Amino acid sequence: MTICAYATFEDLRGEDDERDPVLAAWREAGIDGRAERWDDPAVDWSAYDAVVVRSVWDYVLRREEFLAWAREVESVTRLLNPYAVLESNTDKTYLRELGVPTVPTHWSSEGLPDWPEYVVKPSISGGARDTTRTADRAEAAALAAALEAAGRTPMVQPYLDMVESEGETSLLYFNGRLSHAVRRNPMLVPGTTLDDNARAQLRTPAPDQVELAEKVLAAVPHVLLYARIDLVRLSGGAPAVIELELTEPYLYLGHRPEAPASFARALRELL
Ligand SMILES: Nc1ncnc2c1ncn2[C@@H]1O[C@H](COP(=O)(O)OP(=O)(O)O)[C@@H](O)[C@H]1O
Ligand SMILES: [Mg+2]
Repeated sequence: MTICAYATFEDLRGEDDERDPVLAAWREAGIDGRAERWDDPAVDWSAYDAVVVRSVWDYVLRREEFLAWAREVESVTRLLNPYAVLESNTDKTYLRELGVPTVPTHWSSEGLPDWPEYVVKPSISGGARDTTRTADRAEAAALAAALEAAGRTPMVQPYLDMVESEGETSLLYFNGRLSHAVRRNPMLVPGTTLDDNARAQLRTPAPDQVELAEKVLAAVPHVLLYARIDLVRLSGGAPAVIELELTEPYLYLGHRPEAPASFARALRELL
């Protein structure tokens, strides 16, 4: 029987509600899956046919350690997604090199454009951590300068209020096949919590969104067990990438009954 590790974080207490459905779907597909803490030094990763990176949500606080772990694992077994993908995808500077429309971004605290409202975030982040929305240009500049002073790369963007109306659309691909898409909740409105991030609605993506998502996938020269492509629309209506999640995306598996099985099938195909 094939045996795969499901790499997660902390003490496996169950903050990751996709873990059990995935392990059950793997079992159905003839894959014996075990959840392992990615930073547990006692794990013998070489005993696994593949190590699947999943809820490693704490990597944001220790990216170098996480990448060193990933490199080590890839030297002894199959890592999905591959190390090269994780290395580039854990710092949003990858957005500059995608070659597709992305959210306009000013990468410095100096010379901010005049926008009605700003979002300031670090290039290494997740779950809207250290991300601030402000209408005050001087405050936006100061927030970006504080990130720079801490040795981080700031990203300053116009606040796109379509995240509150149409909403962000996330497309889920497993081994290159579209599984489903969801409408996600806006994260920068008062009172929003991380729970709102896990709540979403199933949505049929528009043809221009599917077209852009597939352009993004074609721009990544690696096999991808999972990919979540987060899209917004710019003021003229054109779709643009806000984030490409190839490291630790929540997959919204609960939103389509067949999704866990599709994910398991994709893994099977890659083994
Ligand atoms: N420019 C923006 N306009 C409106 N909302 C934004 C913008 N940037 C980020 N957000 C909100 O913050 C969330 C998190 O930002 P994102 O860039 O996806 O980084 P991460 O998910 O890695 O923290 C987005 O899903 C969105 O709700
Ligand atoms: Mg995001």
